[in-house]
Amino acid sequence: MVTVRAPATSANLGSGFDVFGVALSRPADVVRVRRDTETSIEVSGAGSQFIPEDPEKNTVGAVAEALDAPAHIEINKGVRPASGLGSSAASAAAAAVALDELYDRGHTREALVPIAAEGEAVVSGVAHDDNVAPAIVGGFTVATGNGITRVDADISLVVCLPDIVISTRDARSVVPESASIEQVVETVGNAATLTAGMCRDDPELVGAGMHDSVVTPARAELIEGYDDICGAARDAGATGVTISGSGPGVLAVCRGRDRRSVASAMLDAFEAHDIDARSYQTRVGRGAQIL
Ligand code: HSE
Repeated sequence: MVTVRAPATSANLGSGFDVFGVALSRPADVVRVRRDTETSIEVSGAGSQFIPEDPEKNTVGAVAEALDAPAHIEINKGVRPASGLGSSAASAAAAAVALDELYDRGHTREALVPIAAEGEAVVSGVAHDDNVAPAIVGGFTVATGNGITRVDADISLVVCLPDIVISTRDARSVVPESASIEQVVETVGNAATLTAGMCRDDPELVGAGMHDSVVTPARAELIEGYDDICGAARDAGATGVTISGSGPGVLAVCRGRDRRSVASAMLDAFEAHDIDARSYQTRVGRGAQIL
């Protein structure tokens, strides 16, 4: 029996669409695996009623198949699905690390990233690495065709999760198909600023570098009150605010001392729109851990 905790993650960070991601210190999924002749899945915890237990339809079934590692897999969800917090990636990452250990396959953490991404493709339709990479290796990650670059950043974050559901498929359908050269130049500058901020543990630079005028405005239309939530978070001290992954979670960067007030301002702003929400005061955290 092997048990692994893998964290929620926040992808994109505005200017790094499909490239940037961070592991969050909380919440997390816990996955327990036991050898068996065929794969079976049991799901409990946050939003488990919406998650299929059929191995053909669950993200961890594809991971077990890719590793040729049949097992009984128990998933305890700390990360609600369709949240923008890398829910399926957390399960896929935990399963990849657990099954690799259970069957002594000996893959490096980096080699497990594309395997876990196959699991992601089962639910989102696209095998992208920007959530599974930080869920497996931790920290701030840059996932490109050339591999994964990891930075061990120390940055305080707040994620506010409204009680609305947006599927990754729907959020991807509104992404513009092209961008102007001005937008490309702006995005490169912001992404570089954000990366420098992560390397220096500087919330001002990270927050400034999160600005994105291409994907985020299109997706913001799917989140009622988005501009008000951002304004409230900034007024309470956030240095930058953006959509977490494909939403509806909203991510704010701040100094550690402002986390509580930023979280409560974001909750109040959602409440003003009659939307229930919950917040996580969190930080850039570690990747999957064998317990
Ligand atoms: N980069 C992906 C997207 C992350 O924004 O669609 C999905 O959580």
